[in-house]
Amino acid sequence: MMIQTPYLIRLELAHDADAIEALHELSFGPGRFARTAFRLREGVPHDPDLSFVALFGDRFGGAVRLTPIRIGDDPALLLGPLAVHPDFAGRGAGKALVGVALDAARAAGHKLVLLVGDHPYYGPLGFARVPVGQITMPGPVDPNRLLLAELAPGAAGGARGLCGKP
Ligand SMILES: CC(C)(COP(=O)(O)OP(=O)(O)OC[C@H]1O[C@@H](n2cnc3c(N)ncnc32)[C@H](O)[C@@H]1OP(=O)(O)O)[C@@H](O)C(=O)NCCC(=O)NCCS
Repeated sequence: MMIQTPYLIRLELAHDADAIEALHELSFGPGRFARTAFRLREGVPHDPDLSFVALFGDRFGGAVRLTPIRIGDDPALLLGPLAVHPDFAGRGAGKALVGVALDAARAAGHKLVLLVGDHPYYGPLGFARVPVGQITMPGPVDPNRLLLAELAPGAAGGARGLCGKP
């Protein structure tokens, strides 16, 4: 079976860096540097085998990254930033980027993916709200937006504690 989409998804390559940075600036503005999730990622390279871009013809249209973190003592991944250029919004690329990244993480043996984002968007993709207090971030985060996906059955129940760098 073949599914026709208006975009192509491939692994992020080194030469995508400038286009991704420009998309992050457009999508999140300078405030992104102060976000707790940004600070958790600061100085930690994203996993190049688990980070993807979306191309619409010859135009760069979106990107998602997964970065190693710890939740308490357990290894986990932080998903983000996820961004799709407004010119290509609503065509399914955002959800597809998340799905491809989660599939790759599962195939690589990862068990937990955390993110800060909107539950209405990420819930159908496998993310659930973290019970308040179970996982804490090293900075301010709206507890309703702290979401966790388990890539192995039961993995989320044991995930607790303060998040930090790996
Ligand atoms: C959020 C974002 C990645 C969505 O990308 P996209 O490719 O347009 O998304 P998709 O096509 O996969 O999904 C579109 C659907 O999600 C919905 N949606 C988009 N953002 C949403 C949000 N924040 N909360 C709930 N639903 C949302 C749209 O209304 C649309 O619904 P429909 O399918 O019923 O019409 C993109 O709008 C973006 O980059 N926004 C700015 C950066 C951002 O907020 N990133 C997420 C950080 S957590």
